[in-house]
Amino acid sequence: MTEGRSCPIAYRYKPELLCAEPEKVDADVIYIIGGLYGNSCALDEIERMAREEERQGRSVELVFNGDFNWFNVSDDLFRDINERVLKHRVSLGNVDYELANPNDGAGCGCAYPDFVDQAVVERSNAIMERLQQVAARHPDIQGRLAELPRYRCLLFGGLKVLVLHGDPESLAGWGLAYEAFAGGNESILNDWFQRSDADIIACTHTCLPVLWSAQVEGRPRVVANNGSAGMGNLRSDARGLITRVALGSDHDSSLTRLHNRGVNVSLVPVEFDNRAWLSEFDRLWPIASPAADSYRERLVTGTSLEVADLLFPRRS
Ligand SMILES: [Fe+2]
Repeated sequence: MTEGRSCPIAYRYKPELLCAEPEKVDADVIYIIGGLYGNSCALDEIERMAREEERQGRSVELVFNGDFNWFNVSDDLFRDINERVLKHRVSLGNVDYELANPNDGAGCGCAYPDFVDQAVVERSNAIMERLQQVAARHPDIQGRLAELPRYRCLLFGGLKVLVLHGDPESLAGWGLAYEAFAGGNESILNDWFQRSDADIIACTHTCLPVLWSAQVEGRPRVVANNGSAGMGNLRSDARGLITRVALGSDHDSSLTRLHNRGVNVSLVPVEFDNRAWLSEFDRLWPIASPAADSYRERLVTGTSLEVADLLFPRRS
């Protein structure tokens, strides 16, 4: 295996252990924020959205499930993102893990599958190398990242909400990627839900959103992959997405939603100031830099997905 393709052994865990120690969350709403990728403008907007819900009488808990670092390769932005995120309930992504505990030969730690082009993998490794140089100048933050768990199980509305980064076997697993759902992953989903006993799994890492639901052992189960909070996720749409889990109430802006025994799970857009973010991004990652080559077009135009594409299983 080469850098960026491998899955370090420290990323591995067992589905049976993921919900062994649930943490009770006393809030009306949880925002699960994956893949912020160092976008401070998206974080501004998420904080504003939470304040607005609170103004309407609903308490909101912010939960970050990894890769809040990526494009933030200046000392100021690195500190800003981490200090703001680390005030909340947080679990690690592979990017944050590799900043706290650099693995020899892991590269970006993305564990990219074969369908991802080698040039993309090499650019991601180059981004990680630059970000690690910044992180090394902030050992206090590296120390705080090193103490974070790789997953969390939240007890919310009587349900087990399993928050992780990749999939139920690896921090950087691709088993809950859009491509895995599109290719058919029912049997592994059944296995993971049975072994973890989760009601809802909220993940991210693979950068494309998914909302899936089905019965497993007579109980409704949900997977919500928010794609990216800090980059566009849909066709001609530069907005980020977060997973919102709430007692009862729908959010006016929800793109897609599912209900699981009184708990509402939806994907909600993050309409951040993209002009301000692009200006910061271009300053840090000018034309022909690895991040500009891999991500700038997506920051402007989003992906090729429509809202209807996000829902699984497919309705025939
Ligand atoms: Fe990731």
